[in-house]
Amino acid sequence: MNTLSNRKILIGITGSIAAYKACELVRILKQAGAKVRVVITQGGLEFITPMTLQALSGERVWTDLLDPESEAAMGHIELARWADLILIAPASANFIARFITGMADDLLTTLCLASTVPIYMAPAMNQQMWLNTITQQNITKLRALGVGLWGPAIGGQACGETGPGRMIEPVELLEKLQLSFNNGALAGKRVVITAGPTQEALDPVRYLANHSSGKMGYAIAEAARAAGADVILISGPVHLARPEGIEVITVTTAEQMYKAVMHKLSACDVFIGAAAVADYRLQDIAQQKIKKTEETLTLRLVKNPDILAAVAAKQDKPLMIGFAAETEDVLNYARQKLIEKNVDMIVANQVGHGVGFESDDNTVTFLLRNGKEQSLTKQNKQQVASKLVEVIASLLTQPTEK
Ligand code: PMT
Repeated sequence: MNTLSNRKILIGITGSIAAYKACELVRILKQAGAKVRVVITQGGLEFITPMTLQALSGERVWTDLLDPESEAAMGHIELARWADLILIAPASANFIARFITGMADDLLTTLCLASTVPIYMAPAMNQQMWLNTITQQNITKLRALGVGLWGPAIGGQACGETGPGRMIEPVELLEKLQLSFNNGALAGKRVVITAGPTQEALDPVRYLANHSSGKMGYAIAEAARAAGADVILISGPVHLARPEGIEVITVTTAEQMYKAVMHKLSACDVFIGAAAVADYRLQDIAQQKIKKTEETLTLRLVKNPDILAAVAAKQDKPLMIGFAAETEDVLNYARQKLIEKNVDMIVANQVGHGVGFESDDNTVTFLLRNGKEQSLTKQNKQQVASKLVEVIASLLTQPTEK
């Protein structure tokens, strides 16, 4: 579905070398059917010319607050009224700092103040500038103001350093813009999902694992994305295709999954733990292949971090959905997990006999914190996933139901 057709998108370009990427962004937005207008700050003009953006957008490019060519010389009001959405890409540290203090000393800051439409920013700066406490405080304030942040990415930078601060690629921004115009049930929500098994090494050639295929978690990720969510999928080792339009982070062990989840929690609205995480790992992984010299072998295991419980313990925790895969007394064990893990909902999952692990089908019951329960007959994981997304959407709109 092309959600960008005829959408009026205002692109603000500020002073960063990543300004060159804004040209490609404007080009692909136009290709996707959007109407694009561009405002460049004085900093941005050091990196890019209005002529280039004018050719790509098919519109004049705005640079000055006091513009005699605009109706009543009030270009900022005209542009603020015109846009359906404002995306500042790249957003420099300087622009972000000026924006959060409410300055109105150039066209871009002024029109942002004069606008009521959603504002998104794609930060781009040197990694130390991004990590600087002042910038991080500004970012926290931006989030509190309801400004959406896309990126930055981690990687090599124009200054030769490596770290967080790269503007995310134009094609990723295009996908995010498409999602932001999707008015599905989870539009504008960020959902973090774990899926698949974890593998815990015994020695260089063997590991402890389970039969999770990742099918359930991947189906949820796709259903959430189709409902308009910004989805991050943190996946153990599986043999499934990477779903499109979803950020996928692959991990092997429970500890890696824990770290990836904690790293991706900011601005997360919903957390779904569909992974079958190994409860234990080896205390000491053998450095060489274990030999079968003895009749019996004793392995000493230590507990892995409980990812679901750790997220649920956070003060600003998102809506929390856990799974409970059980072979017997499923509902009772699941009810216990609902309480012990302090989550809003548990998906009780009957496993064995051709359902649950590995199969295309699943038999589940949704157990809600408020005591409500809904059992689904055996059905495929895509159907389970879309019903789960419906329940999550209703929980998000009725906070008292949580
Ligand atoms: O991957 P498939 O083949 O499609 O199979 C799907 C599934 C059966 C794996 C899935 O539907 C499912 O039920 N996942 C949970 C598996 C499980 O056994 O969970 P648990 O009872 O060990 O843990 C309960 C909850 O805590 C789960 O949400 C789990 O992700 C989470 N957990 C558990 C341990 C741990 N260290 N960290 C966790 O976050």
